[in-house]
Amino acid sequence: MLELPPVIGHRGAAAAAPENTLASIAKAHELGCRWVELDAKLSFDKIALLMHDERLERTTNGSGPVADHWAADLQRLDAGSWKGPGFAGERVPTLAEAIALMARLGMGANIEIKPCPGREIETGRAVALELRRRWPRGHGLLVSSFSSAALEAARAVAPELPRGFLVEAPPPDWPATVRRLGCVSFHPWYEDVEPETLATARELGIEVLVYTVNDARRAAELLEAGVASCITDVPERLLADIS
Ligand code: G3P
Ligand code: MG
Repeated sequence: MLELPPVIGHRGAAAAAPENTLASIAKAHELGCRWVELDAKLSFDKIALLMHDERLERTTNGSGPVADHWAADLQRLDAGSWKGPGFAGERVPTLAEAIALMARLGMGANIEIKPCPGREIETGRAVALELRRRWPRGHGLLVSSFSSAALEAARAVAPELPRGFLVEAPPPDWPATVRRLGCVSFHPWYEDVEPETLATARELGIEVLVYTVNDARRAAELLEAGVASCITDVPERLLADIS
C-alpha cells in the first residue's frame, strides 16, 4: 500500500533551490518534505538524468536539446547559477545519484518520466529499469508520466513499480486509461480537480495527487476534499499550514 504524504516538493524544492538538482532534494528534506517529485529524461547515450525541459538553456549554462548531449557532457554543465550565485557549480544529477541521496536521507519520491519527443518508450524503459535496480527497499516510490507509452514501457520491464497517470485537465476517458495502464494514482492539474474527479478516483480505488499548488489555503481545501498529496514549489508554506 502506497503511503503518500500530504505535501510533496516539486522538482525538489523548486522555489528555494535549482530544480531537479541534488541541492534541491537536500533543501526539500531540510524544509521537512518526506517525498519529492523529480523529472527524469535520457541523455543521447540513454543515461537517465534529472531535467525538466527538453532544452538546456533555461536551467543550465549549456544549449541545445538534452537528447543531443552525452551524459558526461551534461554532467559538466552548471545547473545552479541561473538560480543564484550560491548554487554555482551545482550539477545535472543522474537518476542514480539522486536515488543514492534520497536513500541516505530516507526520502520517498514521485519520479516523473519526462521523455524528450519520440523517446517515450526508451525513456519509460530506462527509468523503470534504473529504479528497479537501485531504489531502496521500503522507501516510498511512485512513477508517473503524461505519456501513456512511457508508462506502458515502464510496466513492461518493471511491473511492480506503482504507476500514476499525469494529465493537465482530465480527459473524458481518463478512468479507462488509468485502468488500462494499471495505475494506482491520477495526477491532474490542481485547478481542474472537480468533486466528480475525486468520486471517480475513489470508485477506482486510486489516489489523486495534484500539482503545482503553492497556496496553503487551496492545498488545505484540496486535502480536505480527498486529494492525497499536493505537489508544491513551496513545501515549507504548505507544511506550516497543515501542522
Ligand atoms: O508531476 C507533476 C508536475 O511536475 C507535472 O508538470 O511540467 O512541472 O513536470 P511539470
Ligand atoms: Mg514534473
